[in-house]
Amino acid sequence: MTIQHDGSKRTRNRALLKWVDEIAARCKPEKIYWCDGSQAEYDRMCEALVKAGTFIQLNPAKRPHSFLARSSPGDVARVEDRTFICSAKKEDAGPTNNWMDPKEMRAILDKLFDGCMRGRTMYVVPFSMGPIGSNISHIGVEISDSPYVAVNQRIMTRMGQQALDALGEHGKFVPCVHSVGAPLAPGQKDVSWPCNDTKYITHFPETQEIWSYGSGYGGNALLGKKCFALRIASVMGREQGWLAEHMLILGVESPQGEETYVAAAFPSACGKTNFAMLIPPADGFKGWKVTTIGDDIAWIKPGADGRFYAINPEAGYFGVAPGTSMHSNPNAMLTLKGNCIFTNCALTDDGDVWWEGMTDQPPAHAIDWKGRDWTPASDGPAAHPNARFTAPASQCPSIDPDWENPAGVPISAFVFGGRVSKNFPLVFQSYSWEHGVYLAATMGSEATAAAIGQAAMRRDPMAMLPFCGYNMADYWSHWLKIGRGSVSTPPLIFRVNWFRKDENGRFVWPGFGENMRALKWIVDRCRGRGQAVESPIGWLPPHSALNWDGLDFPREKYYSIMNIDREKAKAEAEEQKEFFAKFGDRLPRELELERELLLSRLNRSPDTWELSKAA
Ligand code: GTP
Ligand code: SPV
Ligand code: MN
Repeated sequence: MTIQHDGSKRTRNRALLKWVDEIAARCKPEKIYWCDGSQAEYDRMCEALVKAGTFIQLNPAKRPHSFLARSSPGDVARVEDRTFICSAKKEDAGPTNNWMDPKEMRAILDKLFDGCMRGRTMYVVPFSMGPIGSNISHIGVEISDSPYVAVNQRIMTRMGQQALDALGEHGKFVPCVHSVGAPLAPGQKDVSWPCNDTKYITHFPETQEIWSYGSGYGGNALLGKKCFALRIASVMGREQGWLAEHMLILGVESPQGEETYVAAAFPSACGKTNFAMLIPPADGFKGWKVTTIGDDIAWIKPGADGRFYAINPEAGYFGVAPGTSMHSNPNAMLTLKGNCIFTNCALTDDGDVWWEGMTDQPPAHAIDWKGRDWTPASDGPAAHPNARFTAPASQCPSIDPDWENPAGVPISAFVFGGRVSKNFPLVFQSYSWEHGVYLAATMGSEATAAAIGQAAMRRDPMAMLPFCGYNMADYWSHWLKIGRGSVSTPPLIFRVNWFRKDENGRFVWPGFGENMRALKWIVDRCRGRGQAVESPIGWLPPHSALNWDGLDFPREKYYSIMNIDREKAKAEAEEQKEFFAKFGDRLPRELELERELLLSRLNRSPDTWELSKAA
């Protein structure tokens, strides 16, 4: 039986109409609804979500036009162990991805998706990743049985009729099928957060399709984000000669009005949103300004002038709430003033949201993310550690005037940063493009709440471990090739680490706005004026190279977080050998050569850095 819908009034794209009918025939929803992306539609859907108990409307006087959702406790983060790259050949997914034979996966999905939307509305959610009409942008269509997904997509992407119009009659789109996996029997009452214990987040790189089942949360369900803009787009980028990266994009404006754009890759929950919205310290950085292009994903293409140009494919922020405050990130707090969706935050008695770290004083009473009474004496946090906000990027006070420029912005530096509490310096620069790719490829980082079931410490190459849609070694080769062969002025490459701790487990570096001191050195280097000294690991800024106005951070303390313990660094380089070995002969030779060069530098003592420090 075919289900009536008004798709043919919305689009003349026959491939899309045919696909929608096919998915409907498999999933057997009660209704089909095409999203137009209008404000009226958004308001109607939010109202329905309130009625259904999924949304709680926040106090309009405190947080106008905003809602709180509480997920099921088993559905709170990305599920990396349930995420699959189903390339025809296992080697093409590589040793860092979960792989399943596409035929085998399709057989599983055929069963799971058969009738999975019974009793529900199937939403057709067309969206553009990137500004409508930009030749860097791509169109996707997500079919989902979750109205929560539909309203989030309206904030996170350019969603609705505008995307269908851009697609046109013959345009190509990435098909994204999503179900929470909770069909309703006739008369069965729905729950506030439907989902299924069985979860599959699957990607078919050869046919560029996405199928997601069982989860309604974040990157598992908002398929334009990690699934399309990173996993599928990374495959497109390799084929077409561009990069899809887990990177924020920011602009640094000097007092003279000189603009320098930087893209930075930090693993999930390691400070991209904070860095993208940085406010330079008032003391010492008068006239300096940081502007925000994006906080999570960058699509980067070689431009005609020999530089890389980057766009933010997203239109909103799906940011980590805990830790966000007027102290740590005022721009984010101001972005959240209204028109937002909060997920798994706590609800205060006056109808606002709260999370750990938002205020110095916690509220005396709140309702926690599980809907229970909470006081500061309660066991466990009020907000889930991976509680998130969905906020329109246009509301960000630091948004860059060029953030929707279809041509993108020219990138001068790539910055890579893990969360490393020991033996890793604050900031340094690579010796070359190849050395930079090596530094990025070997990046390590400690576990966060953004995904469940991570090891305490893991290698997270380019912050792309869970997001690269093909063999990581081939991705490194792509990086080596594109930086040398497609642009005459490749960006300089840097590593940073805000997370070094002292013997008492406290962060040594004040971080947040103070990261401007490292950022300014990065900009200086791009402009050919920052001081740097050779060391075994790369170019290091001596104490005198950073601006210390307004911060009491003694020289000894600085050198303590710039210190490299040779023996530990050698042990680390040995570990990298094991990591590289996993990739067999797909590993680009340059990376092993860089590793050996590092070892040889570490074996020579003293070195230039040590001698200059003593001088
Ligand atoms: P995803 O959205 O998961 O990709 O992550 P993100 O990289 O955007 O994460 P976000 O910026 O939201 O990082 C949140 C965590 O990083 C919080 O725990 C912050 O307190 C912490 N953080 C951010 N910047 C700094 C910093 O400069 N120093 C320290 N110590 N912590 C920081
Ligand atoms: C991340 O985990 O890197 C995120 C959040 O940006 S999610 O969209 O859930 O993947
Ligand atoms: Mn992310």
